[in-house]
Amino acid sequence: MKRYLQKLPAELKEIINLAAQVSQDIGMPAYLVGGFLRDLILGVQNFDIDITVEGSGIVFAQALAKRLKSDLRIHERFGTATLTLGNCLKVDVATARLEKYPSCASLPVVSSGSLKEDLRRRDFTINAMAASLVGADEHKLIDPFGGQNDLASGRIRILHDLSFRDDPTRILRAIRFQQRFNFKIEPKTLKLLKQAIEEGLLKKVHSHRMRDELILMLKEIDPSKQMKRLNDLGGLSFLSDKLRFTKSTHDLFKLIDKEIRWFVKNFSSRRKLDSWLIYFMALLKSLNLAQVKIIILKLGLRKGEEKRIINDHQNSHKITLSLSKRGVRPAHIFTLLELLSYEEIILLRASSQVKCLKKYIKDFLEIYNGMRLFVSGHDLHGLGILPGPRYEKIFAQVLVAKLNAEVKTRSQELALIKKLIKS
Ligand code: CTP
Repeated sequence: MKRYLQKLPAELKEIINLAAQVSQDIGMPAYLVGGFLRDLILGVQNFDIDITVEGSGIVFAQALAKRLKSDLRIHERFGTATLTLGNCLKVDVATARLEKYPSCASLPVVSSGSLKEDLRRRDFTINAMAASLVGADEHKLIDPFGGQNDLASGRIRILHDLSFRDDPTRILRAIRFQQRFNFKIEPKTLKLLKQAIEEGLLKKVHSHRMRDELILMLKEIDPSKQMKRLNDLGGLSFLSDKLRFTKSTHDLFKLIDKEIRWFVKNFSSRRKLDSWLIYFMALLKSLNLAQVKIIILKLGLRKGEEKRIINDHQNSHKITLSLSKRGVRPAHIFTLLELLSYEEIILLRASSQVKCLKKYIKDFLEIYNGMRLFVSGHDLHGLGILPGPRYEKIFAQVLVAKLNAEVKTRSQELALIKKLIKS
């Protein structure tokens, strides 16, 4: 592994060296494992370091966090901890563990174990390798299931026949890694994966775990590839028997890619998009509201996510129609779009090829979005108006005038208010 480690950026090398020192100092063998090691061998950049410790992952993480002066979050129940350094560097530390699944799709019963046992509980051979940080075997690859060979041949392979029964989220994970790396799912694994889907095992998993895995798929570089493969294997049926990834959904995903790039390029200072949600809303387009609501429930989506999905489902058609005409006044554009999330707005732009609609949305984001008045309640009070519902009404009228460029300055806003009071 030495030659792979040498190629790492200096900051990662430094963390790994410090981790090795900590391992030696506290006498707990520590190993690089999981996705980090897989990507290291593949030559894919990965700033999430995975470390497994024989002993106590928490004690190890505390000592490492002290040396790195990093933030530390401990998950006592799982014997894990996460160190964060700056914006994009993360170290996940876990105690080597043994997992037993009492029944299909249940949460495993966990106890601490050896590295060998820890590797045996993992999803795929390519994720079940380790490299020791210290000792006689320092930096030597520990690869009991042939992960390196599978990486070289581009194969996703489970470690034992009950893997998908133990943890059906691995169905989505297998597809995700396969599509991400352009690998093949090895024939026996594929047979067991299909069987697990047919038996409806995905429906047995706790909603939040399915939510997380589905989101990870939609966050991959090419979510349309991910959803197409899931659809072709019958894997979307766990959400709804009516759900399909059709050619038109595929085309819409591609248009969304384009609109997201446009948004990120032109509005980089705005909040970060939940891009996965845009694809998800697109995926649900062909369903009716009742079916959409069932899926939201099944996945235990958060309130904010639910709100955006339902709003899009109920209003996007109407809004598209309203914005597909020439000459829509800015104040009307503002009223239609101001209450929408950026995710809904991007989906609107992707779903329509009408030029003026695209221009209205661009204008909205560039000019009207978040437009505020110079005047405040204080000014109205100064003009002798007592606080009450009238304030809102006056502000709304002034805002409309401002959006339509009829008033621009503070004194013009005040002049308009005086006119409104008189009339
Ligand atoms: N793992 C597993 N079964 C799961 C989830 C995770 O065996 N259902 C193991 C795998 O060995 C995996 C490691 O835990 O490599 C870390 O999990 P995670 O961070 O979810 O995956 P990564 O492999 O790091 O993938 P990614 O590149 O997407 O972060």
